[in-house]
Amino acid sequence: MNKLTLSAIVGLMLCGCTASNEPQIVENNMADQGNEASLKSLAAQVNLSVGTAFETRHLQDPLFRQKVIEEFSQLTPENEMKFSYVQPQRGQFDFSKADQLVEFALENNMTVKGHALVWHIQNPSWLEDGQWSKEELAEILETHIKTVVSHYKGQVKYWDVVNEAFNDNGGFRETLWYNALGEEYIEMAFRFAHEADPDAILFYNDYSTEGMNAKANGVYRHVKKLLEKGVPIHGVGTQLHLTSDGPISDVSIARNIERLSELGLKTHFTEIDVRLRDGDGESALFDQAKRYEMLMKLAVFYPQVDLYTTWGLTDKYSWVPNWFKGYGRPLLFDENYQPKAAYNAVHQVLEDASAGTFSYQPATDLTLVQRYVQAFDAKALPSGAFDANAVVYYPFAYNQLGVRNQTVPKAENISGKWAVGYHDNQLIGQVLRHDDFTVTNNKQAHENDNVELFIRLGDKFWQFRSIVGQDFAAANFPGEIQGEWSNDGQQFDFVIEFDDYEDLVGETIGFNIALSDNDNTAEDSVRHAQLYPLSGSNIGWQGEEFGELFMNGQNAVVAAVPVALPPTFVAKSLTQKPVDAESSVWQESYHYSLAFNQLDKKDMTVSQDSIAATWSVGHHDNWLYGMVQRQDDITVTSMEESYLNDNVELFFQRGEELMQFRSTVGKDFEKIRYPHQYRAQWSDDGQTLYFAIELDKPIASGEAIGWNIAMSDNDDGKARRYQLYPVPGSNISYLGEELTKLTFE
Ligand code: XIL
Repeated sequence: MNKLTLSAIVGLMLCGCTASNEPQIVENNMADQGNEASLKSLAAQVNLSVGTAFETRHLQDPLFRQKVIEEFSQLTPENEMKFSYVQPQRGQFDFSKADQLVEFALENNMTVKGHALVWHIQNPSWLEDGQWSKEELAEILETHIKTVVSHYKGQVKYWDVVNEAFNDNGGFRETLWYNALGEEYIEMAFRFAHEADPDAILFYNDYSTEGMNAKANGVYRHVKKLLEKGVPIHGVGTQLHLTSDGPISDVSIARNIERLSELGLKTHFTEIDVRLRDGDGESALFDQAKRYEMLMKLAVFYPQVDLYTTWGLTDKYSWVPNWFKGYGRPLLFDENYQPKAAYNAVHQVLEDASAGTFSYQPATDLTLVQRYVQAFDAKALPSGAFDANAVVYYPFAYNQLGVRNQTVPKAENISGKWAVGYHDNQLIGQVLRHDDFTVTNNKQAHENDNVELFIRLGDKFWQFRSIVGQDFAAANFPGEIQGEWSNDGQQFDFVIEFDDYEDLVGETIGFNIALSDNDNTAEDSVRHAQLYPLSGSNIGWQGEEFGELFMNGQNAVVAAVPVALPPTFVAKSLTQKPVDAESSVWQESYHYSLAFNQLDKKDMTVSQDSIAATWSVGHHDNWLYGMVQRQDDITVTSMEESYLNDNVELFFQRGEELMQFRSTVGKDFEKIRYPHQYRAQWSDDGQTLYFAIELDKPIASGEAIGWNIAMSDNDDGKARRYQLYPVPGSNISYLGEELTKLTFE
């Protein structure tokens, strides 16, 4: 869906409705404490229903009843339409409780969403304990659905037809329905419901499916398949039982809404609650409000979302404390029916929406997602075979055996690149190495020429190693692993198949890969290089300092919260002030590579013969000092646009503002509005740069700033061939995005 079109539609909708509905709101809202418009009256103006879920017993509480009537335009029976309630004995239906709820709702102009026809829990024991043949269970399913839906024909607008049919990995949950009927039961359920009430709007409903993850992928794939078969399904509900401090990304949710919408499906927010840990104070209430607010913004922004339902009304009654030990207070009103920060936040969004001052737009453009060290991209491989043209090659850029000198000088006699793609639940990758001498006779496996892979899923990690010419494996890895070397030992192809996933689209996993080189044939010698794509201190085998690998399928969005933390770059406190690039004090600092070419989206590596570049920074008093070394045979400085010349750029953010310093080879930094001193000085041969930047305030040890450094190389006086960075990315540091971290030690 085109964002501009969409905002335009929303805009029009807002303007149109505000005018015509205004008098009605004023009337509705005078009724109660204050002149505040109710949630439902504001939401109505953007064609949104705000709902809540409860049981008949709650209607005995007069305050509860009053609040529901005032604020909500939709009701979901929290329990009393579930299988065990409406058909407690086979063939004996009991609608007494559910009828009361429906009657109450209709009397008060609320729509009803029936919940839930088919589920794996809250089923009666006759159903759970019976031994059913396939035919019998199909018959039970049909009778149940048709009886219940017919009973409420014309009264219940929406149905949750099937609830929670998928596992977190995207596969089908093994329920009593699935085990007997296979995945067909889902399709059957929708067809039965539609037959019983052709006007009812039918939903699939699940939890942890709001964003772009494996489970949501499973749901998406299945509903798509159902639609292709002509099954009557009209929308997908996402429950949204959240915690106040859990990771959540509006962009990821937005993408999911958009992909469902492209299939013609609505999205409903069906069971929102945001639980707090017992004892948590103000800041948790604030985080809670932020989550409710974000969801309301999405509901207002997307016309395809026309239901925003909270799973309860007051903290006095909620399923949370019983189901999640140590948690509570998940709703919009506190135990005394006072509106919480969350209520005010949601209310404000709706006020803005109805006043035409709503300006939110989810940043679904992938290039705008801000991230500390970009994830490596694994591309989709449609045929399931490695395809060098489909993937992105990345360099092995850092030698983690080099301690403080992590660069890979040509003299190391080893270099390489790697790429990974994915297909279904498989990672399919390749390592290409240039090595003139291969050692495989060392007594210690890791001291031989080898490739290692590190995978992290949550708090588990695995290490796989393959000595050149041999296969590899990891103990306890839940899946299949294969590796194969070419005869000359210069190419390694591997496949890692995960048992835990149905497919990997949109997944981000912790990832690292290492290439080791030993050139000494003594059986007890040690390797001289172990190359990684990211800097670090060689503790991948301890489960630390991982990068991330992102299965970048269509519409997928890397999670807002990284799954693994890559190392930061370090600026050492220097014992003396360096005066040029040759100062001996540079031996104290870390030296890093400029190895990722961000001008080539398919192969970020640098051809060996063309340019090599390293950098180092340190601090002394309140100055940042740095040096850059380049080996480059052709230097171009004649371009009118200075960024197209051979140059070095620094991106530096301490506090609010991003500073970008640029120095063309041979020249001082260009003048910028940085309020302190700064200076760049090149050696006569243009191969080394020394720079000094005065800082606004002294540096605290442990302080980290936003940072990047780039070297551009132009060889033909036309376009740059390379713009090299120390990490992968997409060349948008100049926008203040994709900065890495520089930590002062
Ligand atoms: C919960 C109810 O709130 C509880 O009262 C009951 O004991 C268990 O079910 N997903 C759903 C809802 O679809 O039906 C569940 O409701 C919460 C999780």
